[in-house]
Amino acid sequence: MSEHFDVHGGARLVGEVEVVGAKNSVLKLMAAALLAEGTTTITNCPQILDVPLMADVLRSVGCEVVIDGDTAKITTPSELSYRADSPAMGKLRASVCVLGPLMGRLKQAVVALPGGDAIGSRPLDMHQNGLRKLGATSTIEHGCVVAKAEVLRGAQIWLDFPSVGATENILMAAVLAEGTTVIDNAAREPEIIDICTLLVEMGAKIEGAGTSTLTVTGVETLSPTEHRVIGDRIVGATWAFAAAMTRGDLTVRGVNPHHLDLVLDKLRAAGADITPFGDEGFRIVQAERPKSVDFVTLPYPGFATDLQPFAVALSAVSEGTSMITENVYEARFRFIEEMIRLGGDARTDGHHAVVRGIERLSSAPVWASDIRAGAGLVLAGLCADGITEVWDVFHIDRGYPHFVENLNRLGAKIARVEGEPERA
Ligand code: UD1
Repeated sequence: MSEHFDVHGGARLVGEVEVVGAKNSVLKLMAAALLAEGTTTITNCPQILDVPLMADVLRSVGCEVVIDGDTAKITTPSELSYRADSPAMGKLRASVCVLGPLMGRLKQAVVALPGGDAIGSRPLDMHQNGLRKLGATSTIEHGCVVAKAEVLRGAQIWLDFPSVGATENILMAAVLAEGTTVIDNAAREPEIIDICTLLVEMGAKIEGAGTSTLTVTGVETLSPTEHRVIGDRIVGATWAFAAAMTRGDLTVRGVNPHHLDLVLDKLRAAGADITPFGDEGFRIVQAERPKSVDFVTLPYPGFATDLQPFAVALSAVSEGTSMITENVYEARFRFIEEMIRLGGDARTDGHHAVVRGIERLSSAPVWASDIRAGAGLVLAGLCADGITEVWDVFHIDRGYPHFVENLNRLGAKIARVEGEPERA
């Protein structure tokens, strides 16, 4: 049975909202638990579908996983299977993160090509090239990455692009390799710092977390640990955009505002008044119609591609014209088609979009193509006349715990409705 959200336009969001652990961190931390025999405990896990999906992936290679509220306990046996090719693999992108740990532990892995959001081409060449530098062979066979090594030996690895997933996989193989690995042009996302922190707690030797050069000195074994996931900066930013777009007043807790420095600076330029609370959260108040701002997506500390739909949605209701440039995922502008359905005045040319703000959008049925596009459409619906139906909301459920409940508590009127759409 399909579900959609009925989003009533016109709400002003006011109140306080708590952000829990980051989706894009917890899934990698769960994969990292494969590196140590015994029970690794991860707390502050978000209650989203991808967490039990990742648990299934880990079970398929021999782990026991118990999820209780916001805590996941992963017990990794001494004997792991090197084959991660169960159907669970195809359901989320982060499943590919078992490749590095399986190589670290077993020097062998067969990992099904991952699923995840339809946001553009997502090759694994950098993951494979990194493993090759460490001494492995790596091919794609029958829909799986197949990798094997006699020994993994530390090496100098230059990434063509600071890929989050490639940095994580190479890191997780290198922590159990012989000698020293240097990853240059490494990703610098806060989620990379989080996984480095976990690995160091497990006994790994890593320097440079959060910079573009990671130096890893391999150790023989790692031990299980307990770790709290960092707050989800993408969800935190979603609330910030929600406040800006609805001319609201939100206090957002559970996320480090320094992870959002550039985002909050952009929203200030759009007219928001923002007060950070140390590393705990921030308050955002938008008194008047937002002013147009330009956005350019780039790897961290640049403006995150995951926030691009919110940049478009904000621009669609701002005063003036914005230019939005997408440098990471070419298909992300698919979102703009749905914004046009809502009356948005937007056009794309290659990886640029020009959005002319209008006072009010106009409700229509729209379709979420990925997690963030889905949440972006909900925010746009809040700024539209009438009731906007947002379909394919399973995408939103993959990234936003209690999204509808939180929005309703903050003053929105949104209902989750079962039924089939009129459009096939
Ligand atoms: C992660 C996030 C995703 C976010 C993205 C960029 C997870 C589960 N997902 O995805 O939400 O949008 O970071 O911030 O954490 N690329 C290659 N070859 C490779 C690897 C990547 O060409 O081997 C390209 C991709 O096609 C893309 C760019 O590099 O254009 C960035 O990808 P990457 O940083 O690897 O993203 P993910 O880790 O997949």
